[in-house]
Amino acid sequence: MPSYVVTGASRGLGFEFLRQLSEDPAAIVIGLVRNKDATEKKVSSEIGRSNIHILHGDLEDYKSLKKAAEDTAKITGGSVDYIIANGAYLSESSAYLTLTDLGENPENLEEEFTRAFKTNVIGNVHLFNLFLPLVRKGEAKKVISISTGISDYDLVREIEFDMSGPYTTSKAALNLAVAEFNGQFRSEGILFFSISPGVVATDGQTNSTKNLSERELQSAQKMFGKFAKYAPHFKGPITPEESVKSVLSVIYNASLERGDGGSFVSHLGTRQWL
Ligand SMILES: NC(=O)c1ccc[n+]([C@@H]2O[C@H](COP(=O)([O-])OP(=O)(O)OC[C@H]3O[C@@H](n4cnc5c(N)ncnc54)[C@H](OP(=O)(O)O)[C@@H]3O)[C@@H](O)[C@H]2O)c1
Repeated sequence: MPSYVVTGASRGLGFEFLRQLSEDPAAIVIGLVRNKDATEKKVSSEIGRSNIHILHGDLEDYKSLKKAAEDTAKITGGSVDYIIANGAYLSESSAYLTLTDLGENPENLEEEFTRAFKTNVIGNVHLFNLFLPLVRKGEAKKVISISTGISDYDLVREIEFDMSGPYTTSKAALNLAVAEFNGQFRSEGILFFSISPGVVATDGQTNSTKNLSERELQSAQKMFGKFAKYAPHFKGPITPEESVKSVLSVIYNASLERGDGGSFVSHLGTRQWL
């Protein structure tokens, strides 16, 4: 009876993880969200499976994560097989701004960096620490961080990527934290690693391209041009369904024995990000 905890399960990729994971009637799927009532309604109307449990869990609120770990233990009997750390602050307002653009409004720059690091780095480190006792008792012992290709140092250099700084640097910090967790826990047989889901048509992705200023629009076009040059086969965002299917296949395939501990790969299971 595999058990899963997925953060940021209210929409986008997180909600799609709930849908695909709950297809196995033996699975226990726990979604952590900020808006429990609304998500429960959405799960019941759009998925309608009793093996999905929704708990309150805000990555900016340690107490809510602690309570979610306690409630998860009650549902599963004290263990968890897979943690999928998917929730993130995507920082729509700075998606197409360079660090220099952002610097024109220093207060906003500080707010964006603080929020991105609080949610994406500190929130996930708390999440991993709080759920570790449950993962230790699980069978699969896999902790997966959903990252982004644009936090890969080599890709950023290769395509001269120059925007979304608060988001990309927070995800790069998270990748490193995941590698450190691997350093600490691989001897206990716990696999920590990071996966980029590709460019996916979710709210997070499409909202960032709405209501753009002329300058941001030009940056967005420049970015998609760089993606096209990097991966000439790239035709635009994939669906959440395709992305989650690929990511799950990478998750199931990964193991400490294969050398995946602390690694950072794409939804293709490689360092090809698109
Ligand atoms: N879509 C892409 O192209 C893409 C590309 C690369 C990486 N990713 C990564 O994939 C993951 C999912 O992205 P997505 O595209 O599905 O984004 P999305 O549609 O914007 O969904 C983001 C999710 O994160 C949740 N969240 C935000 N702040 C949170 C907090 N403080 N505590 C708990 N949950 C919080 C949101 O909950 P609310 O509903 O409460 O806001 C929502 O469920 C993220 O880690 C993202 O970085 C996505």
